[in-house]
This record gives sequence, structure tokens and C-alpha cells, in this order.
Amino acid sequence: MHRPEIVAHRGASQHRAEHTLAAYALALEQGAEGLECDVRLTRDGHLVCLHDRTVNRTSNGRGVVSELTLDRLSELDYGQWHHELPDSADELVHEPFAVPSADPAERGLLTLEALLGLIADTRPSVKLFVETKHPVRYAGLVEAKLVAQLHRHGLATPAAKEESPIVVMSFSTRAVRRVREHAPKLPTVLLLARFTPGRGSGELPPWADITGPGIHMLRNDPDYVARSAERGHDTYCWTVDEQADIELCQRLGVRYLATNAPANTRRLLGQG
Ligand code: G3P
Ligand code: CA
Repeated sequence: MHRPEIVAHRGASQHRAEHTLAAYALALEQGAEGLECDVRLTRDGHLVCLHDRTVNRTSNGRGVVSELTLDRLSELDYGQWHHELPDSADELVHEPFAVPSADPAERGLLTLEALLGLIADTRPSVKLFVETKHPVRYAGLVEAKLVAQLHRHGLATPAAKEESPIVVMSFSTRAVRRVREHAPKLPTVLLLARFTPGRGSGELPPWADITGPGIHMLRNDPDYVARSAERGHDTYCWTVDEQADIELCQRLGVRYLATNAPANTRRLLGQG
């Protein structure tokens, strides 16, 4: 039976605040074979693991990531939002995570450098799927900085794409192409939120290796995985937490399955 590789989306983000060291440490403990993270540039040019354009949702501060310095971003708490106290005491009894995090690893800003350090110290064989996000003012710089940082760690020139511990992803075709230009040996995923004209065939531009549809697309067009495979492309599917969707990915032969709950997904796949 085909077995998708489990990629922890923003870490084990169902149970720990997303993009925190604690979320990634838990994902590794839960046996995830891959980790997913989003990266953005700070005002002073550091790559940090944050999904949104602003810190408003995931921290106790406010502001646009690309307008804040690393020092300012580091002062904020990135764990509390995930642990808000419920309105009623009843909910508190039934919700095991409804208390502010006491774990410093679930509060601090996570830089890409720290995430690479965690992986090197804990499980160097895990695959890291890095998604570049795009503040307009930094167009192009995110990919250049990312590749330079990967070079410093000896991670930008794998002997074979299949063995690379790093995979770079984006919804932007321009971003994926830039990664290919900067680091031709790194595998890339072109993420898709919908089938634009021509994309449903399974064909990818020459600078993308893996196709990255959302699960909503495979529910409507399950044959897409086979069409992509015929053209030589593995499928990375996001974000898959429901049992029926997990089983669908397994049946279709999805190679990489991004989930917020690695332990539960492993259990449903009969691995846990
Ligand atoms: O893994 C890809 C997926 O993360 C893309 O969507 O919005 O969660 O970054 P988003
Ligand atoms: Ca992402």
C-alpha cells in the first residue's frame, strides 16, 4: 500500500503555536518525515518563520513583518494566541491546551537559522519544505537570501534532488524560477490554489519539480495526481487533516502530505 510522507505544516501546529520551536520539536517527536515553514524577510534582512504579512494574528504585537527589525520582532510573544483562555470555566476543563504556554520554546520568534539548527541537532535526515512569502518591496530578495543561507549550511547543492534535505516552494512561478536560477540542484514545488488555464494537465514549468495542489483541488479532480505522475511529477498536497482526505491522498498516491496534526495523521495511515 502506498504511504504518503507526512509533512508537519507550520510544525505540529494543531497542538503547539504555529512556527514555534516547540511546534517543530513536537512534530519531530511525533515522527513527521518532513517539516513545512513559511519564511519572510525582516526590515533588516533576516529570514523569519512567519506565515502572515503582519504579526497581528500570531503574536501579542502589531505591525508588518517587513517593516520591523529582528530585535523588535524578537520582543513579541508568539505562543499566547494559540492558548487563549476560554470564556467559560467548563471549556477550560475540556480543552487541554487552553492555558497560556509556560514553554519558552513556544513563545519566541523562530528564525530560519534556529530551525535549521534544531534539525541539525535533532534529525538531519528530515526534509524541510521552505515556502517563500512575498512582501512586494522585497521581491526577489527572499529567494536570494534563502539560497545564500542554505549555501552557508552546505544545503544548497545536494548530490541528487531526491536526497535533498531542503525543498523550496512558492505559489509564485517567478519565485520558483528564481530559486532554480540561484540553486539549480534544489528541488522545487510549485504550489497551486486553483487550476488556472493549462495547469490542470499536470504539466509544470521546467523550473518546478513537484506539483503542490490544495486538498480541495484533489477532491474535485482526483485524476490530477496520476496526470502529474505521467509527466514525472510527484504531488505535495496541503493541508490535510480530515480522515477522508488523508485516505484520498493515500489512494491517489500523493507523495507528500502536509498536515497540522502529524501524530493523528500517522495513526490514520496505520503508522502510529
Ligand atoms: O504547505 C503549503 C501551504 O502551507 C500553503 O498555504 O497559506 O498555509 O502557506 P499556506
Ligand atoms: Ca505555507
